Amino acid sequence: MIVLQIEKLKEQIKNWKKEGLTVGLVPTMGALHAGHKSLIDKSVEKCDRTVVSVFVNPIQFCPGEDLDKYPRTLEADSELCKNAGVDIVFAPSPKEMYGEGYILSNDFLTYVIPPYFYVNKLCGKSRVGHFDGVCTVVNKLFNIVQPDYAFFGEKDAQQLIIIKKMVKDLNIPVEIVPCPIVREQSGLALSSRNKYLSSEQKEQALVLSKILFNIKTCYDNGIKDVEALKDTAFSFLNEHHDLEYLEFRDENTLEEKTTADNNTRVFIAVKIGDVRLIDNILLK
Ligand code: PAJ
Repeated sequence: MIVLQIEKLKEQIKNWKKEGLTVGLVPTMGALHAGHKSLIDKSVEKCDRTVVSVFVNPIQFCPGEDLDKYPRTLEADSELCKNAGVDIVFAPSPKEMYGEGYILSNDFLTYVIPPYFYVNKLCGKSRVGHFDGVCTVVNKLFNIVQPDYAFFGEKDAQQLIIIKKMVKDLNIPVEIVPCPIVREQSGLALSSRNKYLSSEQKEQALVLSKILFNIKTCYDNGIKDVEALKDTAFSFLNEHHDLEYLEFRDENTLEEKTTADNNTRVFIAVKIGDVRLIDNILLK
């Protein structure tokens, strides 16, 4: 069932809670693929009821990003959800979420701002304000749905770490369930933004997973020095790849590592044409 209104959704949730049913939430921006589906499957398996939110959240897009052209495929999304056993697809409009005449400015909305240390690096460095928008909308979704469990992909590992931090710092009564990255056979991590890639660019996009898998192999073979591990990446890159970052950071605190260990996550972002792709791997 597709629900567009917050009040209608809250009513339904209230009834479930009265019956003592557990509720899982899978927050998404739609254009659902097998990566999202893996989160949905986990929720359906673990919880009595599952809500999938489909909301292209305007306040997490920075100026010049792809808000207008972000793929919107609600019909196909709700079909996928129905087949997967989802109880409600919550698909509010921006007006429903942020109110009449909402203005995309800090001046007109209460924001949830994650700590600077967590957002001044990796994706937060080039996407200033992005994680403020993510935390604000996820916090709103938690308040509306009041889920027992919420499911997030390791694909967006910095987002996952920041949301865990928000939940801990603000004592939000929800358990965050991390879900592994789903990849194509080729190694390419599934992403709604892969739709923007031409077939040539898709081939070039394999560089992200190739670099990460190679670093993991080198680490497993005993190379722990981060500079030495980073050096292994350059032979994969050519003029089609605009490397934004390749960083080794602590899996929980995002502190930078000089020597890799089992808590080290390697983060990579590469622009191919106009498309910015991210990926990561945990060395363990
Ligand atoms: P979106 O990009 O639609 O992703 C929704 C969820 O699916 C995120 O938790 C993301 O990490 C997960 N996901 C995407 N691709 C995946 C893959 N290949 N394997 C595993 N999980 C994958 O992330 C967002 O939306 C938004 O920022 C949101 C949290 C909904 C807030 O607006």
